[in-house]
Amino acid sequence: MNFLSLIEAKREGRKISPGDLADAVRQFTDQKIPDYQMAALLMAIFFRGLDAGETRALTLAMRDSGEVLKFPADPRPLVDKHSTGGVGDKVSLPLAPLLACLGFRVPMISGRGLGITGGTLDKLESIPGFTTQLAPDHIVAQVQQIGVALAGQTATMVPADRALYALRDVTGTVPSIPLITASILSKKLAENLDALVMDVKFGGAAFMQTREQARELASSITSLARECGVNTRALLTDMNTPLGRTAGHWLEVREAVVCLENRGPADLQTLVVECAAHLLVETKKSPNLAAARQHALACLASGAPRRKWDELLVAQGADLAAFQKKLALDHTAPEVVELTTGDRAGFVSRCDARTIGEVVRDLGGGRLTKDTVIDLDVGVDQIAKPGEVVASGSTLCRIHARSSEEADAAGQRLAAAFDLSPEPFAPPPLVVEVI
Ligand code: URA
Repeated sequence: MNFLSLIEAKREGRKISPGDLADAVRQFTDQKIPDYQMAALLMAIFFRGLDAGETRALTLAMRDSGEVLKFPADPRPLVDKHSTGGVGDKVSLPLAPLLACLGFRVPMISGRGLGITGGTLDKLESIPGFTTQLAPDHIVAQVQQIGVALAGQTATMVPADRALYALRDVTGTVPSIPLITASILSKKLAENLDALVMDVKFGGAAFMQTREQARELASSITSLARECGVNTRALLTDMNTPLGRTAGHWLEVREAVVCLENRGPADLQTLVVECAAHLLVETKKSPNLAAARQHALACLASGAPRRKWDELLVAQGADLAAFQKKLALDHTAPEVVELTTGDRAGFVSRCDARTIGEVVRDLGGGRLTKDTVIDLDVGVDQIAKPGEVVASGSTLCRIHARSSEEADAAGQRLAAAFDLSPEPFAPPPLVVEVI
């Protein structure tokens, strides 16, 4: 394979053969192709796209660049959920133990946050002692034993995605539907799943700004995943408003625990239950969505997923006593400042996820580069959500910061994230479509 001719072919909008794409991935992973040439190919793909056959070839080559998890035969289906990323999106944390209690095996391989979108691994690392670095054998053994593992991509799983994503991130080639499809599905196919539920977010704080773009990405992922033998559904969900009432790593873990105790905010609980319900139907464990929702809600209310959470924490090295002690604290950041409505009152009609995500990132809770060391204690909680009524002097949110100066600066920016209306306001639906 002559790599230059691949770049030229794609630049001119021609197809690349599956064999050449597989070679390109193999040679890049083996460090035989320099970054500048792969960056040029990625940019050509960004502008010219890949058709379904090319996307499939790229995805499978990326999956096969490393180890694939191998599970023993077991009646419990292997399932996972993946979100394209948002602000306050802590769904994976309560969902994983809930799915284990519903009789699934959940080898959940998660990622880190970048920019304003939070990552599950970073959130988990705010738990004292919890380790997210598990070897593939360990993931398989733990999933067989307790039904669930929450881990990072290992050094040996899908190395091609790690290298390609790092390059895409610094060359402006992330928001490409075939490249996102290949990146997400190569990792999910390496888990050897029976079923997958995708949460494809659209809106101001999502990769996909519009519902149409989200639908296109969802169709690309679901059709390829099904072709590869993974029953997949995608939920298109609104990411103009943060999910739940918290954004920031430790604050989100606390909210996830509240959700597991069946006291979670309505939008978070709805999305957790919807993801579980679609997997129950997709794996034929429930006859229809209504029955599946009831089953998931009853399981959540039983307290079993909250106990499974503790079991998961212990299995991955957490200090449970230190975790409980931390949970009991009102805050762990040095400063907490309330942002109030002042003398205004009315109905919250906007709570802007992008502004909140940017503020949390700038408080120290997000990365601008892959090497940024993040602060796991900063963030925003008690967020007032669209549709809620607020009196004068009510809390719009609380800011958890490293200093009062940073909290005050954040407060000034956050004031612009909220609009109040004198009229009742009906928030838009969270899940707008299923693909
Ligand atoms: N998440 C991924 O894992 N890959 C992408 O390319 C985008 C979001």
